[in-house]
Amino acid sequence: MLQVPEGFPTRVWVEEELSGTLLPPGPWTLVGDAAVRPAWAAAGLPEPPGTLWQPLCEAAKRLETLLPWLEAWARIPLRRDATIVAVGGGVLTDMAGLAASLYMRGIRWQAWPTTLLSQVDAGLGGKTGVDLEAGKNLAGAFHPPVDLVVCRAFLRTLPPRHLAAGRWEIFKMALIEGDQAWAGTLLEDGLPAPETLLRALRAKAEVVARDPLEAGERRLLNLGHTLGHAMEAASDYRLLHGEAVGLGTLAACCLAEEQGLAPFPPAFLARAASRLAPLAPLVPPWEACLEWLSRDKKSGPDRQNPARTAIYCILPCAGAPAEQRLLPPETWESAHRRMLASLT
Ligand SMILES: NC(=O)c1ccc[n+]([C@@H]2O[C@H](COP(=O)([O-])OP(=O)(O)OC[C@H]3O[C@@H](n4cnc5c(N)ncnc54)[C@H](O)[C@@H]3O)[C@@H](O)[C@H]2O)c1
Repeated sequence: MLQVPEGFPTRVWVEEELSGTLLPPGPWTLVGDAAVRPAWAAAGLPEPPGTLWQPLCEAAKRLETLLPWLEAWARIPLRRDATIVAVGGGVLTDMAGLAASLYMRGIRWQAWPTTLLSQVDAGLGGKTGVDLEAGKNLAGAFHPPVDLVVCRAFLRTLPPRHLAAGRWEIFKMALIEGDQAWAGTLLEDGLPAPETLLRALRAKAEVVARDPLEAGERRLLNLGHTLGHAMEAASDYRLLHGEAVGLGTLAACCLAEEQGLAPFPPAFLARAASRLAPLAPLVPPWEACLEWLSRDKKSGPDRQNPARTAIYCILPCAGAPAEQRLLPPETWESAHRRMLASLT
């Protein structure tokens, strides 16, 4: 079990193989992504009454998808002492967590994340939600799981594109700490070592413990997400979340340098860019990104011109922790151009 800060609402486990020992001791039911049902069954793990396996993707991350889950739980009937076991990627854990927060005004849930991205990021921190027409994750709740059970065995069936996408979320964590050496190890192929998962989880848990509701410091975890979310949405979700975070982190390095922060060496940035180069055809033009950036929900008044809105931008800094600044959306234009140019 990972040592988490005192009072942290989630126990965190990093295991190699799937095992039933961490399943809830009391009544529970399961909601899972159909893609991982074979792995669950192969490990001989139980499927209690009311178990739901559903094919999922980002387009299904809608309130309509989880309403039938609530109805099914009420039919079992599931009572307040029950626990929901959520088995799947970030789409499933975000939705199951929200459903658990709604059912009888909130019941316990466990997250069993099955993608690299959800193991190091989405499963921890209590943010749950669904997408609305106007943007991603616009309806949700803070409802942390009681347990986060990370099993590396799930990663064996994960398509390589999703594995690579998840690595960018860990790369982001390394740059939040300004640790170029750690970030460099994430530019290699293959499954990240258990120590890498533990380090990323510990780093996130510490930030979340100090700022559970994202009133300040937790915004640092959005490194790469400001332009990343805009690119993801403007690409019509053809860019995966983690891929957009990788591209957004590279652009944030450009912006940070323009804002006077200590730059990362060009050779390091070129290595990161070469890993992201195959995504160049999916990067939307600046005008399309600006439209989404202007709708960013993490915004405040522009200090230079209080009548205008500025957005929180997380800027990485070589050898030191990242910083956050409120900047007008247009500030990203040259970073977007330089990031795209570096991919070719
Ligand atoms: N709550 C948070 O703090 C937080 C943080 C980051 C991202 N997110 C959210 O996470 C979502 C993205 O999550 P994701 O990248 O895990 O995508 P995902 O849940 O869509 O999973 C990716 C694909 O892999 C399949 N899959 C899942 N596990 C598998 C496995 N072990 N083997 C084979 N296939 C498998 C899924 O069916 C899906 O097709 C986004 O909606 C994003 O907003 C939330």
